[in-house]
Amino acid sequence: MDKLIIEGGVRLEGEIRIAGAKNSALPILAATLLTSDKVTICNLPHLFDITTMLELLGCMGVQPVIDEKLNVEVDSSTITDLSAPYELVKTMRASILVLGPLLAKHKRAEVALPGGCAIGSRPVNLHITALEAMGADIVVEDGYIKASVKDRLKGAHIFMDMVTVTGTENVMMAACLADGQTIIENAAREPEVVDLALCLIAMGADISGHGTDTIVINGVSDLHGCTYSVMPDRIETGTYLIAAAATRGKIKVKDTRPDILEAVLLKLEQAGADIKVGEDWISLDMHNQQPKAVSLRTAPYPAFPTDMQAQFTALNSIASGTGSITETVFENRFMHVHEMNRMGALIKVEGNTVIVEGAETLKGAPVMATDLRASASLIIAGLVASGETIVDRIYHIDRGYECIEEKLQLLGAKIRRIPS
Ligand code: EPU
Repeated sequence: MDKLIIEGGVRLEGEIRIAGAKNSALPILAATLLTSDKVTICNLPHLFDITTMLELLGCMGVQPVIDEKLNVEVDSSTITDLSAPYELVKTMRASILVLGPLLAKHKRAEVALPGGCAIGSRPVNLHITALEAMGADIVVEDGYIKASVKDRLKGAHIFMDMVTVTGTENVMMAACLADGQTIIENAAREPEVVDLALCLIAMGADISGHGTDTIVINGVSDLHGCTYSVMPDRIETGTYLIAAAATRGKIKVKDTRPDILEAVLLKLEQAGADIKVGEDWISLDMHNQQPKAVSLRTAPYPAFPTDMQAQFTALNSIASGTGSITETVFENRFMHVHEMNRMGALIKVEGNTVIVEGAETLKGAPVMATDLRASASLIIAGLVASGETIVDRIYHIDRGYECIEEKLQLLGAKIRRIPS
């Protein structure tokens, strides 16, 4: 397994470009199953999860074609197999996103039931009950969700018990081809849901209310092809800004969207960062000052994102003062804390809150990545620690951060990959 070796203590300085958003690109790739026409997707990030989704489409008999500009053209008219096997679902839970499109377009789908993972139990019951409300017959058997519908799915009034991002996306995709109107209440308002809605609209869907908690979809009989460019990744953006803040640095991130990062930028300002924004860039300057500890609470968008919680824990661990961070979205998203404490951080877990007392400095150590965002937080800790940090199991990071060591090297970091 590859490892990253980091020599900490360098202030990050410079400019980097942000890639397309993983969590938009995955549902958009799944949405290509809703039409027999060709769909071209631009600005796809080069990530392991994207490769897995392309592999999943390949397993179904759909052969995505990559052009010279690295855009991906998907022609799902060649589909032969309506299933997502366990081998792929176990490596990427977002495979569940093919359930809604397959059922709506082909009236049948078999998708392996995703298990729990390093951040919580993560059930998909809300995806299932919503599709049942739209007329699907669903059984969970032999570890698979087996779904079918006799004729077309029917529009329904759906209230989501919890705000679920992929749940909202699955139902929204299915509803595009359903008979009649679907209303999703307590829908996720995440920008990635909006990006998917815009792509579906470009394919001919009739959707309104995306970006609010009530999404209305009027089903149409067919969707058509389109060319769509994935929006920038807000979590990648925030991760580099936090890395710069932690190292007291000064960076500019380009090809991004400040308007969808408000909660994160506010916390960075509270931490002492001087932030400037343009339409598609954000600059951060710490003026070589130690960050100040901040307190925050994760919740669905537009509140502070759970996907940035671990990185802020790393920032607080070397800040002045004490900050508390409460995780309300996932029940077990603090695996990084124990690794950071091995580097000299002073973090206590109390239920779903961590209390972080800023330490003077961290010391490099061998640490183990447990999930994608935890890996990012350990890299940030390694960048500020004195001496060498070795981050093991970095396949997690390759799932969601494009060329992370190259981008950090561009900012001056001493980081290199040791292939296994
Ligand atoms: N939940 C249920 N039942 C359901 C669905 C969700 O109880 O049927 C619960 C979950 O267990 C969790 C909460 O609802 O406690 C929210 O989960 P959600 O369904 O919103 O998460 P997700 O759709 O599986 C997406 C992102 C995650 C991100 C979360 C929250 C994708 C592919 N994944 O997951 O991204 O953390 O929303 O914003 O969009 C990451 O990129 O590192 C990542 C984990």
